[in-house]
Parts: sequence; structure tokens; C-alpha cells
Amino acid sequence: STTRQFKWDVEYMFWSPDCEENVVMGINGQFPGPTIRAKAGDTISVQLTNKLHTEGVVIHWHGIRQLGTPWADGTASISQCAINPGETFVYRFKVDKAGTYFYHGHFGMQRSAGLYGSLIVDVGDGEKEPFHYDGEFNLLLSDWWHQSVHQQEVGLSSKPFRWIGEPQSLLINGRGQFNCSLAAHFSNGSTNQCKLGGNEECAPQILSVLPNTTYRLRIASITALASLNLAVGVMSDEHEHVKVTPEDILSDRPGDILSERIEDIAENLQTLILAKNLCGVTFYNDYNYVFSQNHKMVVVEADGNYVQPFEVEDVDIYSGESYSVLLTTNQDSSKNYWISVGVRGRKPQTPQALTILNYSPTSPSILLPVSPPTITPTWNDYDHSKSFSNKIFALIGSPKPPKNRDRRIILLNTQNLIDGYIKWAINNISLLLPSTPYLGSIKYSLKGAFDNKKPPEDFPNDYDVMKPPKNPNSTYGNGVYMLGLNSTVDVILQNANALSGNVSEIHPWHLHGHNFWVLGYGEGKFNKKKDEKKFNLRNPPLRNTAVIFPYGWTALRFVADNPGVWAFHCHIEPHLHMGMGVIFAAAVQHVNNIPNQALACGLTGKSFMNTKQN
Ligand code: C2O
Ligand code: CU
Repeated sequence: STTRQFKWDVEYMFWSPDCEENVVMGINGQFPGPTIRAKAGDTISVQLTNKLHTEGVVIHWHGIRQLGTPWADGTASISQCAINPGETFVYRFKVDKAGTYFYHGHFGMQRSAGLYGSLIVDVGDGEKEPFHYDGEFNLLLSDWWHQSVHQQEVGLSSKPFRWIGEPQSLLINGRGQFNCSLAAHFSNGSTNQCKLGGNEECAPQILSVLPNTTYRLRIASITALASLNLAVGVMSDEHEHVKVTPEDILSDRPGDILSERIEDIAENLQTLILAKNLCGVTFYNDYNYVFSQNHKMVVVEADGNYVQPFEVEDVDIYSGESYSVLLTTNQDSSKNYWISVGVRGRKPQTPQALTILNYSPTSPSILLPVSPPTITPTWNDYDHSKSFSNKIFALIGSPKPPKNRDRRIILLNTQNLIDGYIKWAINNISLLLPSTPYLGSIKYSLKGAFDNKKPPEDFPNDYDVMKPPKNPNSTYGNGVYMLGLNSTVDVILQNANALSGNVSEIHPWHLHGHNFWVLGYGEGKFNKKKDEKKFNLRNPPLRNTAVIFPYGWTALRFVADNPGVWAFHCHIEPHLHMGMGVIFAAAVQHVNNIPNQALACGLTGKSFMNTKQN
């Protein structure tokens, strides 16, 4: 194993992620930031200089557990002080486990501003992955708004509340096409608005493959908001030229529309109509959900953990998750195919992100596929999403969870009001980060750095998760769940109805510093007696991110074996910003050698000054 050293400058710069010029946060003049590639066991050293003029910065290494280096986790106010403009901080940590990871800003909403990149860890020398592949591609998925993050943030913290809305574009490796749908490009044959030359910052990266070869696609989602679905395929040729209009649907057009799918189709149509309005193009039929021909994919890795391989037609992926899938190029090699990414779980108003799977050398890379891309399953087809999540099990031979828990923490997720401001709260407390990083204030037992009141471990029995909160008022808090060293903790994430009736959203929860086992998902309110008996203790997958479905619960188990202070939060950036998270402090007395530079602010900063004077 070696040490891999990097010198990074973070700065704002002009960039055109979706062909529209905007300001992004870049690293060394690149967007997304440089990809880190290492081997398991290596040490990564990133010397990060803040070249922003008016704000601090930190970088979190998402999925890396930071065993023994909790101060390098890159969470402002939790593991360290934000790095001030002009200052440099060195992140030095070990990547102990092969897998597909990424990094991103973890201060304010800097992830939404584009501060992110890939971190890929290969198996160590002499080790082997438990599956075979001949080549690989990396697909980092994100969403993009034209409104500045500054404006987004002010909107979220204003009264009346201003929601950021749906993203303008979805990006694959930081590249998207606003105001031009590649698919539309196909359907009306015009090339006027699409920027496909290959030199543009927004030109899609084409995946050139050889026939009958197996590729590993590393797919990671770092979206600020969107849940996504990725498929590789085209619509079947037989329906290629059928155009459907809303009138067709309303007039109950005979033939191949399956009546029970009419509503789904109508929903998809709205997306397409919207895409049409945005792009000024004709839309095509969306029978593909029924008739698409996709390349099959075999899922083999999730969040840096091997899973029991299973085959799918498309992959659901939530913010904070990563997957590796194996794709074999066994289709007609004289054609090219679409890789398409669309929105799930929220009514989409964002066109699909697209790129091309190019069968070389038989099919020139500039040749667009002959049929339109597969369209994402209907946005609210939650059964599709659940069936995907329920297929994920740990690879045989993976570590199993302890049989019993030492503690159970039930976390109710609600949307609330504080003085009329809209917030998210966990057991009725909306997280507000303190000015002194917890890691320092807990390690040095500093008084008054944060609420010493323990946050609640449960919510009232009579709370109706199917209805808006009876009393929507909540409070700010920054209390901490203190976890004993090596204790086994169960967390039950309980979803509920938001402030308005009949609304419950997907929330992908991400844990820092640990992986957890996903013991099960359920509908409605978690039943403390019955549901625990149904937990999967045999082969639950290890993950660092897990979703709660609308009106459902998700059960997780982890062993608090990594001393430090760790964030556990919804990975939707605006939700975290609105308070949707909690803090776990694991055996902080066992943390040693925290570099002073990580804590040179707030009360820890003051206490360093005092010790120097005395
Ligand atoms: Cu990728 Cu705390 O997040
Ligand atoms: Cu959320």
C-alpha cells in the first residue's frame, strides 16, 4: 500500500454543466472534481486549499469509514471547523475497503453547488473481486439547477418558504443537455440545439464498448434531490413510430394500451409534454415501459459492499448510494443504445439524462441509436422501487449482524414549523449545528457548546403517521445520541405524512463512519412487538445509505465500533439543510491525536488560545 497525495484548490468558476453557462464549485479548474483512484489499504492525502473568497469549505469522503481518523470525515461543525478562505487543511485517511465511493462538500449547500467527485478503491494487491469483468466505466449522477445555490438557500430559509423546485437537468459525469433532449434530437432529426461535438463541457461521454464483453458500470448518485432510475436500452422497434397525444389517451385509443396502465402513461406523457415545452420538440410514445428492450444488468456491489448478484432491467438509485453492475454487450452490435437516467419518486419535470453505449468498431460513435431511449418507470411506481430494494442481499460469506441489539432508537421523520418557517424534524427536533465541532467539545468536555439534553429515542405512541402532524410546531436542537463503544444499535426510521395531506416523500438516510445492515422495510407504523420478529438477520445487506419509502419504515443495525462523532441524515441536500439529521457520538473518549487545526474555531479555538497564553 502506498500514500497517494493530492493538492487541491477549491474555487468558483464559470462552467456549462448542461450547456448553459453558470457558476460551479470546481477543484483545480475541473468539474466534477478529479477522480481519486486508489487500492484498498492505501492512504489518501489531500491538501485542500480554500480559494473561495467569502465562505468556508470542507470535503466529506462519502462511504469511507475513517477508522481511527474521525477528524478527517469532512463534516463542518461535526468533525472539524470549516476551512477558512485562504487556508489549507490536509485530509489524511486510509481507504480500507474496495468499492465505489465519492466525495462532496459538507458545509451549507456546497454539494448542490457542484463540489463533488468520484473516489474509486480497487482491491489490494493480490486480492480479487468476487466477479469477473473485462472493462469498466464510471457514471457519477447528479442533478443541476440554474438558480444559484445562494438563492436556493435563502429561499429555503425564508418565510414564506420558497422551494427549489425540480432540477433543470440531470448530469452524468457532470454533463447534461438543457434545452435539447438527445431523444428529441432523434425523434425530429434536427441537431440545432444539441451540443454533441465532443469538445463542449456538456457533451455526453460516450461509452465505447466491444461486443460480447462484460463491463462493470460503477454508478453513484450524488444528487441534491432527485431519486433516479438508470436503464441501458431502447424502445422496441415495433412501436418506434407511434406517437401518442393526450387526446389519444382520453379518447381511449384501442389497441395496445393496457387499460390499467393508462394512468401511468398519462403521467409519463406529462413529463414528455413538459420536455416538449422545454425543448420545442415532438415527443414520442412511452409504451417502452411495457415494451422496452434493455441490456440486462447484474448488480454486484452496493455502497462498497458485495451483494449476492441479481439481474435487473433497470437500477433505482437514491442520493448517497452507489452500485456496481455488470453489463454484457450481447445485443445487435451494428447498433448503438441509450443509457438513460430519469427521476423517480417526485413528479418529474426534468428531462432524462442520456448518453450512448457505442458498440465499436461496428457502429460509429456519432450514430444515434435507431430507437428512442427507455423511459424511467412511472415516478410513483413505488412497488417497482421496493421490489428493487428487496432484491438486495449480502454476498454469501459476508459479515452477519449480531443477533441481539443493545439499544433501539426510533426516529420519526416529520415536516414541521418553527415560528412559521418550514423545517424537517426528527422526533420533533430540527437539527441546527453548533459553532464548535462536536468532536472537540465532546472530547474536551467543553460546557455550553451544544444542548446537553438527550434527544428522544422514540415518539409518542398515538402519533398518526398517515396524517399531517396535529401540532406541527417543533423546536431546534443539537443534542447528541451518545453510543457506547462496540454497542449494537438498531435504528428504526419511521416515515410519516408531511405538512400537507397525502404527501409522504422518499428520504435516503446516510450514516457516517459505519456501515449498517438493512434488516427490513415495512409499511405504515413500525410495530414494536411484531415487526422485529420479521427482521432479516440471515443475509441483510451492509450499506451506508438506505431509503425510507413513503409512509413506511426501515430498520437498520450497526455496531458503534468507530470512535468519533458521526452525522446520520437525509442525503437530500435541502432536507439536511432544513434540519433532517441527527448526531451519533461513539465513544469519543477513545479518540486520540485530533489535529488542533481541525478544531481552530468556536470554543475549542478559544481554549487553544488560552493554553498558549498560560
Ligand atoms: Cu454524502 Cu453526510 O453525506
Ligand atoms: Cu429527506
